[in-house]
Amino acid sequence: MTSLLIINGPNLNLLGQRQPEVYGKTTLAEIEATCTARGKELGINISSFQSNHEGALIDVIHGAVGTHDGIVLNAGAYTHTSVALMDAIISTQVPTIELHLSNIHAREDFRQVSYISKAAIGQICGFGPKGYLLSIDAMLGYLASGT
Ligand code: DQA
Repeated sequence: MTSLLIINGPNLNLLGQRQPEVYGKTTLAEIEATCTARGKELGINISSFQSNHEGALIDVIHGAVGTHDGIVLNAGAYTHTSVALMDAIISTQVPTIELHLSNIHAREDFRQVSYISKAAIGQICGFGPKGYLLSIDAMLGYLASGT
C-alpha cells in the first residue's frame, strides 16, 4: 500500500491559535484528521509527525526510507535556515513536497529563501490547510507518473 508521511515543523503545533490572520483557525489535529480520512478514501496510508526540533525532523526523514513512498513537509521556519533538513531530503532521496499554509513569496524577504526547495520535487503554498490535500494529490500523481 502506498504510504505518505506528513511532517510539520516548529510552531505548527500551535495552528488554530497562532497568528490566525496568517495561518487560519484550523488546528493541526484537524488537518491531520482530514489527511488521514483522505488517505482512507484513497486506499493509502497517511502518517503524521510534528516536532519543534530540527534533529527530530531529520531523524524522521531518515526513517522514511523503505517505510514511506513520499513526504509532505511543512518545515516552518526551518525552511529558511536548515541546510541539514535539505541534506536529509537529498541524502534519503524520498520524494518530498514542500508545503506552506501561507504564500511565503508574498511575505517578508527572509521567507523567500527556501533550502527545502532545493531538494523538493515541488512546492505548494498559499492555500491554507487545503494545501495538505493538494500535496497528497500531487504526490500520488508524481508517484504514478514520475512528474
Ligand atoms: C510556514 C511559513 C514559514 O515562513 C513560517 O515560519 C511557518 C509557517 C507556513 O506554513 O506558511 O512557521 O511554513
